[in-house]
Amino acid sequence: MAARPASRFVCADCGAVTPKWAGRCETCGAWNSVSEEAAEQGPGLTAKVSKSKTRRIEFVDLAGSAAPPPRAATGISELDRVLGGGLVAGSAILLGGDPGIGKSTLLLQAAASLARTGKRVLYISGEEAIEQVRLRARRLGLSDAKLELAAAINLRDIVATLEAASDATLVVIDSIQTMWLDEIDSAPGTVSQVRACSFELIRAAKTRNFAVVLVGHVTKDGAIAGPRVLEHMVDAVLYFEGDRGHQFRILRGVKNRFGATDEIGVFEMGDAGLAEVPNPSALFLAERRGNIAGSAVFAGLEGTRPVLVEIQCLLAGNQGGTPRRSTIGWDGGRLSMLLAVLETRCGVKFNATDVYLNVAGGLRITEPAADLAVAAALVSAATETPTDPGMVFFGEVGLSGEIRQVAQAEARLKEAEKLGFDAACLPRRVASGNRKLSAPPGLTLREIGHLSDLVARFAGKTTVQGAAPAPHATKSS
Ligand code: TYD
Ligand code: MG
Repeated sequence: MAARPASRFVCADCGAVTPKWAGRCETCGAWNSVSEEAAEQGPGLTAKVSKSKTRRIEFVDLAGSAAPPPRAATGISELDRVLGGGLVAGSAILLGGDPGIGKSTLLLQAAASLARTGKRVLYISGEEAIEQVRLRARRLGLSDAKLELAAAINLRDIVATLEAASDATLVVIDSIQTMWLDEIDSAPGTVSQVRACSFELIRAAKTRNFAVVLVGHVTKDGAIAGPRVLEHMVDAVLYFEGDRGHQFRILRGVKNRFGATDEIGVFEMGDAGLAEVPNPSALFLAERRGNIAGSAVFAGLEGTRPVLVEIQCLLAGNQGGTPRRSTIGWDGGRLSMLLAVLETRCGVKFNATDVYLNVAGGLRITEPAADLAVAAALVSAATETPTDPGMVFFGEVGLSGEIRQVAQAEARLKEAEKLGFDAACLPRRVASGNRKLSAPPGLTLREIGHLSDLVARFAGKTTVQGAAPAPHATKSS
């Protein structure tokens, strides 16, 4: 053991290192994420570099003649798309997600599918015993796949085994937080262990030219190191998301050195494991009941994929006190802004009602393009008038009530038509943006320039207090 001070304090969320403990990480602001760890020692399993052995590095030009890296498609097309066309040899992929969301299920299915194409696939489970994995494989009907399965956590053994496995295409490590390198003096799951283990595995992948997938649990309490400390070390970061109460899961690429990020893959968790969902809009709209006030269909984009979702809004009378604003699947701050714009610019009052907004199906929307659909749901609820059930909405709303252009209007319109919608409410094209919008022929376009144009469509109905701007309306809190 070294004589130097052997401990330091590490934030499990961002990996920042401080000499003393703090209740709140000074770097990322997370609470209760800082814990004591033994200091990292040396460069892990790699041999010590002696100064006398250094040599000059070589510089090359940008063009080069190297072919694009070979890829192995897993056969699960939603996964392959997010990866940018399949697994790249020698690359490291981090698959993050909440415990129980389905990471092991997805990887077992992908590994088995790849093994069936004759590729060599090694699956190392540090969390589940062999029998557990076998049981799952049996339930998923994958037992016949020639997958090599092992339950191990000792990283020294694992790396030694992998160094000998030169013909492997894919190695799955489930999960990185259970792996343990004996020369690091801290428990599995700590930042130093997770980092050192990942470093060794990634190095092995690069030298032996197999793809390695590291599973990482995301935790909020900081007890286990968050996979975020690994994001810069790997080539691709995928997050598997979803709501436990819902069947669908979204695989989201947030970093990809070999392809586009912002791609998503959609799956549905069922009795037979994860099924691919080639048409997510149909899934999200499956339970929509037309002709209900307070509902509007948003033509959104998830990455490059158009996805239609229903926005639902409910207004409930507030008996004095501050009205509630509650959102599920959307940003609360943006809801407040839209309410203020509707009130100030269009004279629609919400200051005496509670507002509940829900994105049906459990999807989370971050696009500002949803503003117009949310506004339509709000005005529809306020006027107790259903929106046209065959219409989709998209457009960003500015603070003066103007409707702003959003990206990929054509893709959104095409998806709407594909799902049987016959009208779309969208931003009015500005004179300078003279590019012709090639809308599908079956779709009637309602282009609007200001939010009051939308309100006017509902005007004359019960509670809207005129479409004229209210001069001194105050922002509801
Ligand atoms: P799992 O892949 O073990 O999650 P993770 O590895 O991310 O922790 O998924 C476990 C959950 O998935 C569990 O709650 C049961 C559910 N599940 C199904 O609903 N159907 C299935 O066929 C399988 C295998 C799991
Ligand atoms: Mg698991």
